[in-house]
Amino acid sequence: MNIETLAVHAGREIDRTTGAVTAPIHLSTTYEREADGSYPRGYSYSRSANPNRQALEKTLASLEEGSAAAAFSSGSAATMSLFQALEPGDHIIAPIDVYHGTARLLRELFAPWGLETSFVDMTVPKEVEDAVRAKTKLIWVETPSNPLLKIADIARLSGIAHAAKALCACDNTWATPVLQRPFASGADLILHATTKYLGGHSDVLGGALIARAEDAFFQRIKKIQAGGGAVPSPFECWLVLRGISTLPYRMRAHSENALRVATFLSQHPAVEATHYPGLKEHPGYETASRQMTRPGGMLSFQVKGGRAKAFDAAAKVKVFIRATSLGGPESLIEHRASVEGPETRTPDNLLRLSIGLEHADDLIGDLAQALH
Ligand SMILES: Cc1ncc(COP(=O)(O)O)c(C=O)c1O
Repeated sequence: MNIETLAVHAGREIDRTTGAVTAPIHLSTTYEREADGSYPRGYSYSRSANPNRQALEKTLASLEEGSAAAAFSSGSAATMSLFQALEPGDHIIAPIDVYHGTARLLRELFAPWGLETSFVDMTVPKEVEDAVRAKTKLIWVETPSNPLLKIADIARLSGIAHAAKALCACDNTWATPVLQRPFASGADLILHATTKYLGGHSDVLGGALIARAEDAFFQRIKKIQAGGGAVPSPFECWLVLRGISTLPYRMRAHSENALRVATFLSQHPAVEATHYPGLKEHPGYETASRQMTRPGGMLSFQVKGGRAKAFDAAAKVKVFIRATSLGGPESLIEHRASVEGPETRTPDNLLRLSIGLEHADDLIGDLAQALH
C-alpha cells in the first residue's frame, strides 16, 4: 500500500466493544490476569505495553517498512536508549554537525560511561572510513543535517558500517518516511523525534526507534524501553498517531512552501547564503535528489552584516514565530548559534526556518519586510 493509505490505516482498529472508528485512549496502567496467571490479551502493565503504544509502534514500523518499533517519551530518550544498548568501550562515528542535543548526550553522558565517539564530516565518506576502529559498533547518520542542511549519502555510509561489522542508524526526523527511506539505503535502525513532523502540531513530545530486523540488538532496546520506562503516555501515543494520519499531505505542503521561500531568499540582496537541498547550487543537491522524494520543510540562511543583522531580521517578523523546534503548522525562525551554546559551529549570522503550512506568499512577504 502507498504511504498515504498506511498513514491512515496501519494503526487503526475498530474498537470491538463500541464500534469507535477513532481509537479510545487506554489510561489503565494495569490489566486483568486470568485465574491461571496468564495475560491472554497480551497486556499486563502499561510500562511494558499498552494498546495505544502498540498501535503507534505498528504504524511507525509499517511507514518505514521495518520489522518493529519502540516508542519513547522524547527523541532524545530514543537516542539515549540506542546508545545504552551498546557496551562501554564501544566506538561510535557521528556527524560533526549532529543535532546538538545528540552531541551533548555523547560528550557529557556517554563518554564518562565509556562510549567513545569520533565526530566527522559525513559528506566526505573517506573521513568516515578513516575513523573506523576495531571497536566501532555504530555509524550515526543525520541527513539533512541541522542547521546547515548538509546531505550525507546513506547507502555509502551504511556500506562503510557493514564492512566494519557495525550498525548504521539514521536520524530521519527531518525527512520523515514520506521523503526518505533509510532502510532502502541499507540503514539498520531509524530514529525519529516524533515531537516534530510525525506529531506535526507542536503539542506532543515523543521519539521512536525502528528496526529493520527484530534481532538481539533490538530486543536489548526493547528491554531498555520497558525496564527503563522512558515511554510515552497513552495520550501522547494517540496524539502522534493522529498526527501521522495527515503526514504525507503535510510533508508535501511543507516542502512546496520551503522551496518557494528558499528560492526567494537565494535571490535576496541582504542574504549571504541559503542552505536548502532543493536548490540546484546546494552541494548535496544530487544526493538529495537520489535519496529523497522532496527536499523537505527545513532551511537556513545567513544574513549579510553578521549577528546583529540576523537578530534584527528575526525581531521584525510578523507571521514567523521566534521559537525553537520544527515540524508544526506554524513557521518558526531561530538564531541557532545562541541556542546551541559555546561549542557551536553554526555561523553567527545564520537563521534557521521551519517552514509551516501557511500560504507561501505570506511567508515570503514577511521575510521581505523583515530583511528590508
Ligand atoms: C534531528 C533531531 N533529532 C533528535 C531530536 C531530539 O528530539 P526531542 O526534542 O524530542 O528529544 C531533535 C530535536 O530537535 C532533532 O531535531
